[in-house]
Amino acid sequence: MAIKHFLQLADFTLDEFNYVMERARIIKRKFKEYQIYHPLLDRTLVMVFEKNSTRTRLSFEAGMHQLGGAAIYLNTRDSQLGRGEPVEDAGQVMSRMCDIIMIRTFGQDIIERFAAHSRVPVINGLTNEHHPCQVFADVFTYIEHRGSIAGKKVAWVGDANNMLYSWLQAAQIFDFHLNISTPKGYEVDLSRVPKEQTNYTLFDNPSDACEGVSLVNTDVWTSMGYEAENQARLKAFDGWIVDQAKMSRALPDALFMHCLPAHRGEEVSAEVIDGPQSVVWDEAENRLHIQKALLEYLVIGRVA
Ligand code: CP
Ligand code: NVA
Repeated sequence: MAIKHFLQLADFTLDEFNYVMERARIIKRKFKEYQIYHPLLDRTLVMVFEKNSTRTRLSFEAGMHQLGGAAIYLNTRDSQLGRGEPVEDAGQVMSRMCDIIMIRTFGQDIIERFAAHSRVPVINGLTNEHHPCQVFADVFTYIEHRGSIAGKKVAWVGDANNMLYSWLQAAQIFDFHLNISTPKGYEVDLSRVPKEQTNYTLFDNPSDACEGVSLVNTDVWTSMGYEAENQARLKAFDGWIVDQAKMSRALPDALFMHCLPAHRGEEVSAEVIDGPQSVVWDEAENRLHIQKALLEYLVIGRVA
């Protein structure tokens, strides 16, 4: 049977997402009650990081430990990947020594080539193109706070980056509408959106994108790997800050999300990210619970 990977949200069906979310609720409750739950006793997760991380590393490493297993951290600097070992060879070797692998890297093609040579499931911990674990945790967070996201309007204000493309996939899977506003020169690459997908609207004006939405989302203007463009981006994104004026265009009970790390005064005002509509700390915490459920599902399959 083909190995199940999680390289982008489109790799899972709605039924699989619903199952993993149900497990995440149970696993979260056990964690809060200090219950020992070790379904992955003696299993090993290898984590490969080619970019920086706080939340992703911590949530996968702590999560694997809490499930009874172990996590090994590798980065480009110390491993042979940094000296040019082909990813295909790394996939072969690493997957003979562990039960599951998480990778944070640059191009999506790298993780796809790695996964094609892996004997165990591979999870995308962020690529230039996608950040599926984060958006899965964010959808879970929305549902925790407000119930079903189906039929809702969600705004994306900012860069057309990895987070946005994962939100576009989430819109297809969870059946909500995405209002997108990106500055000139940083528009959505429509060739990356399936032709049949129609549940999104592009806005020139970022405030208009927030009109009547249930959730406003943003992210850094300069993602990892694009640092050389930082000055040009600061200029181009002027006006795209999510501030109270934009939040006031959304529904009164709208939530604000940001995957973090954030830059107060650039993509979001302190008033919004530290204000009552912000659920950014819940999003961060839910990375732990969602990924524990994901690890359980990918390593041992359905348990209930
Ligand atoms: N949101 C997120 O993935 O954070 P890290 O870069 O700290 O892992
Ligand atoms: N879009 C950001 C997300 C960081 C978690 C980046 O890729 O750097």
